[in-house]
Amino acid sequence: MKARRAYVTGAAGLIGKDVVRQLRSADWEVTAADVVAAPAQLQQQGVTWCVERAEDLSAQRLAGYDAVIHLGALTLSAEQKSFGAQVDLPDARPMLSVNVLGTENVFRSSCAAKVPCVVYASTAAVYGRPLFHTHLGDHAVEATGPFRPTSLYAHSKLMCEGMADFYAEQSTTRFIGLRPTFSYGLGRLSGISGMFAAWIAQAIRGERAVLGHPFGLGGKLQLIYVKDMAQNFVDAAISGASGSNAAAAIRSSVFNSATHQVLSMAQIRDVVRACTDNSDVHVADGDFVPQLQMPLMSTRDAFEQLGCTQRYPLDKAIADMKQELARNAH
Ligand SMILES: NC(=O)c1ccc[n+]([C@@H]2O[C@H](COP(=O)([O-])OP(=O)(O)OC[C@H]3O[C@@H](n4cnc5c(N)ncnc54)[C@H](O)[C@@H]3O)[C@@H](O)[C@H]2O)c1
Repeated sequence: MKARRAYVTGAAGLIGKDVVRQLRSADWEVTAADVVAAPAQLQQQGVTWCVERAEDLSAQRLAGYDAVIHLGALTLSAEQKSFGAQVDLPDARPMLSVNVLGTENVFRSSCAAKVPCVVYASTAAVYGRPLFHTHLGDHAVEATGPFRPTSLYAHSKLMCEGMADFYAEQSTTRFIGLRPTFSYGLGRLSGISGMFAAWIAQAIRGERAVLGHPFGLGGKLQLIYVKDMAQNFVDAAISGASGSNAAAAIRSSVFNSATHQVLSMAQIRDVVRACTDNSDVHVADGDFVPQLQMPLMSTRDAFEQLGCTQRYPLDKAIADMKQELARNAH
């Protein structure tokens, strides 16, 4: 059988690197694109690397692919850094031009190239803050909303969902969006989720590990390990490109990422202590900053309709991170 072909944007990112690896394991041919050079782990057979901006992709470039997986974006942490000064409003144009105009270009070019399926990253941040903090954990918000984004980043991702609906109406291309919840892994140690992964890495190395602002002991996370998150994107691409299942009958759909894990920071700290055998692991007192406070999302649709599974709950993720650190030490 002819190998399936995928074009992946944002391939050097935390999730992108694992998406490329997992597509290769499933025997897809992969064109991996980013605005930076190929990370060493991705210089392997079956992966063609391109330095290419999402804003510049053409229909000719995307012709012949079975799926485009669009992950390239400027993220929440980029926006937050600019807010640090608290005085001047940040210039949001770089983020908006990548996340909105870049995404519009990827979607329009994919439709023109008659790519059967586009899978793209939205974000759990489209929901905004929980309406009632005390209900966190009791009532999961549905995939259909309500949405009350509180950052321009989240607004940009909600716009991506709207553009997917629009282009699905105008073309034969099927669009599947995924809203990652808090995704963590050792592949990127910058930004908010990078801080969390770095904290676990410190705990694994037996060092004193303190997780502070923007986290706090009063917070809760709905979290997913990067390998599971990447597998969600691959499952969506397989589902969308085959077009032979219930999810594929809908031309444009958005799924919350498939995780069963909603843990308080005290529970997370205890799992990290137990799995690393390190009692010098702490989370600072206080609540999360507002941008990290999110409602609990219903995640059953991705399990039921895309066939996703969760292989790495936190304890298994820590075991996997231990192995990765040991490999890197050699
Ligand atoms: N990690 C999370 O917790 C999380 C949560 C919600 C949503 N997401 C979304 O999932 C996707 C992947 O997230 P990630 O954590 O891997 O992010 P990341 O920041 O690690 O990776 C994003 C990649 O996009 C690339 N990029 C930047 N500008 C680009 C452009 N103009 N054209 C093409 N690529 C460009 C960056 O170089 C980077 O490698 C993003 O769209 C992000 O918004 C991630």
